[in-house]
Formats: sequence, C-alpha cells, structure tokens
Amino acid sequence: MTIVVTGGAGFIGSNFVLEWLQHSDEPVINIDKLTYAGNLANLVSLENDSRHIFIRSDIADRSRISAVLAEHKPRLVLNFAAESHVDRSIHGPEEFIETNVVGTFRLLEATRAYWNTLEGTEKSGFRFLHVSTDEVYGSLNQHDAPFSETSRYEPNSPYSASKASSDHLVRAYHHTYGLPVLTTNCSNNYGPYHFPEKLIPLCIHNALAGKPLPVYGDGQQVRDWLYVKDHCSAIRRVVDGGAVGETYNIGGWNEMANLDLVRALCSVLDELSPRVDGLSYAEQITFVKDRPGHDRRYAIDASKIERELGWRPAETFETGLRKTVEWFLDNQAWVEGVTSGAYLTWVETQYQDGAVR
Ligand code: NAD
Ligand code: TYD
Repeated sequence: MTIVVTGGAGFIGSNFVLEWLQHSDEPVINIDKLTYAGNLANLVSLENDSRHIFIRSDIADRSRISAVLAEHKPRLVLNFAAESHVDRSIHGPEEFIETNVVGTFRLLEATRAYWNTLEGTEKSGFRFLHVSTDEVYGSLNQHDAPFSETSRYEPNSPYSASKASSDHLVRAYHHTYGLPVLTTNCSNNYGPYHFPEKLIPLCIHNALAGKPLPVYGDGQQVRDWLYVKDHCSAIRRVVDGGAVGETYNIGGWNEMANLDLVRALCSVLDELSPRVDGLSYAEQITFVKDRPGHDRRYAIDASKIERELGWRPAETFETGLRKTVEWFLDNQAWVEGVTSGAYLTWVETQYQDGAVR
C-alpha cells in the first residue's frame, strides 16, 4: 500500500513524511510544487530511501496528478499543499486562490476520478484527508469559548478565506459524490523546519542576528500553539480512526499572547545561547505596526479528537519550545539556506528597520 502527501516539502508536510517513515514502511509519494516554502533539504535524510518518492508538481495540474494516482494507486491522499502565510496573503492574495482554492478543487477532481476506478475494499478503505487551520473560524473575544467543530466559519484574511473555501469544497465532495474525506483544523504549529517568515522562527533568527524582534500592535493577540510533531501524530490518528465526512479540531490547549511568547522564547535563548553582552534577547523586542485585520484570539477546543480518538499532545509548550530552539541552534546551516535570495526580498517587502511597512 502507498500514500500520497501533497506539500510534503513544506514545514508540516516534511515533518509528517519524516514521522510517517519512522512509524511505517508504507511508501510515501510526495507531490510538491517547491514554492519558496518548499525545501528538499528538509528531506535530505530520505535521499537514498526507496520508501520516499518525490514528484515536483502543482496540485492544480490535474492531468499530472491523475497520472500519479493511476500509477501509484494510493489508499490515502493527504493534502498539506497550500500558500500558508497570512502577511503574504495580504500583499498578494492571488496565489492563495490559485493554490488553496483552485488547486484543492483540481486535486479533488483528480482524486474523485481515481476513487471511481477503485472497487471493493480498495474503494471503501480509501481516504482523502484535508489539512486545514483554526483560522477559518475567525477571531474570538477574550471570554469566548474556544472554537469547536461546529463553530461558524468567519474567515478574516485572504489566507483564511481561501482555506475556508477549500474546506467547503472538501465537504461538498463528500456530500455530493460520496468521496470519503476527513478534515482537520489545527492551531498554530511550531518546531523544526519552520520557515523563518512566521513568528517563532523569525524571532529566533532575528535574535541571533542581533536584529529587532517585531511584535505587531500591542502584542496581546492570542494564539494556541502546538508542537508540529503533535500535529503529525493527531493526523495519523485521524487517518486510522476518523469517521468519514467528519472534521476534527487539533490544538495544544496552550493559549498565549504574542508578547508573552516572544519573552518566553527570549528566556530560552538567553539560557541556551546567551548574548555576548550578557543582556537578554528581550532587549531586541520592538513594537511595530499592526497587521491589517489582525485576528485577536484563536483557541481550539480539542476535546472531540481526545474523546473519540484518544489523542492528546505529548509536548507541553515549555518542552516543545526548548526542543525548537535547540533544533534551530543545531541547524543554522538549514536556516542560512532558506534566509537568502527570495527570503530577503520578502523581509524587505514586509519590514523596514524593524518596522512593518
Ligand atoms: P508551508 O508554507 O511551510 O508549506 C507548504 C508546502 O506546499 C510547500 O512545500 C510548498 O512548496 C507546497 N505548495 C504550495 N503550493 C503548491 C501547489 N500549488 N502545488 C503543490 N505544492 C504546493 O505550510 P505549512 O505551515 O507546512 O502548512 C501545511 C498545511 O497545514 C497548509 O495547508 C496550512 O494551511 C495548514 N496549517 C498550517 C498551520 C501552521 O501553523 N503552519 C496550522 C494549521 C494548518
Ligand atoms: P504567524 O506566525 O504569522 O501565524 P498566524 O498569523 O497564522 O497566526 O503569526 C503568529 C502571531 O504573531 C500573529 O498574531 C501575528 C504575530 N506576528 C508578529 O507579531 N510579528 C511578526 O513579525 C509575525 C510574522 C507575526
């Protein structure tokens, strides 16, 4: 048997592929367009591993995807491929529509045609798992209950609107065509291979480079952080036991204001890689212009996946953050590899002397 993973050269997808092959010998066909966020260096440990087959393709290339499915006959398609950065979606939303909406649609079409060729247990056992985000639910007020699977969709950014749209398409393909789908909506991830445009890796990178740590607005926006390997274990659990047509919220029960998070990160860095002048990295925190339409609070109620599938995160925020900082300190060559070229153009577009343009 074989599985197909899309977006498996990105942050979460590559962690998933590496974790999958640690737990199983079932081969992975990894389809990735290799945008700025896709990086085969994440998968270098699989270079001579015949269980991993990499195919460079856009998920929107329906005929190519159809050919891959017909050739490899997977029992499972996991869709991680997406444009994923909110700030980039504000600067240029079109690619988010192209990949997250049109791409998911074409992938669904190719998968439906392939699934229709299957018979018996191959057909009934097939699954399409769509990896989505808590951002589709919009923003919570301070005292609101966390998002559950029945919370209303209220996406506020072009990114979250495009993900919401893809979630709806996935749902429709189940209800209309019977495609056996599963959807997961996860909170903010962090960990190894996190691209340094996102808050945690950006702050680690800037801290070590002596640059400002840009905190948007008042820094009181709340996110619910989950260590990436816990996200991967949750997805495996949903693949194994999730009920077809259902959605599962995944989160770390770990709400934190951005400013507190950056301060916690600085303390770990102070301990593991102190500044030469003996001052704290917290000295580098700089308040910058807020993100337009910035969602105030996300929080996930992950009780359904715990109740029905017995999943809970293995890491606390303290253990996960320490592992993350250690990984970045040990993998500076990886960071250097992704913070040149196009990355510098993005930083120039978004930040100027520590401020947001
Ligand atoms: P990422 O940006 O790090 O990686 C995305 C990957 O998809 C890259 O390898 C990229 O090359 C590939 N890709 C982009 N467009 C493609 C296309 N048209 N065809 C094929 N491949 C394409 O993203 P990530 O953080 O790893 O997120 C993975 C998924 O998880 C996304 O669907 C995202 O919405 C979702 N998600 C992310 C988070 C988070 O905190 N990062 C939280 C919840 C859900
Ligand atoms: P991010 O990592 O971009 O994830 P998301 O927007 O998908 O939640 O941002 C996490 C939080 O950190 C979010 O509230 C925006 C904030 N943020 C900053 O304060 N400064 C930054 O430079 C970045 C990239 C994000």
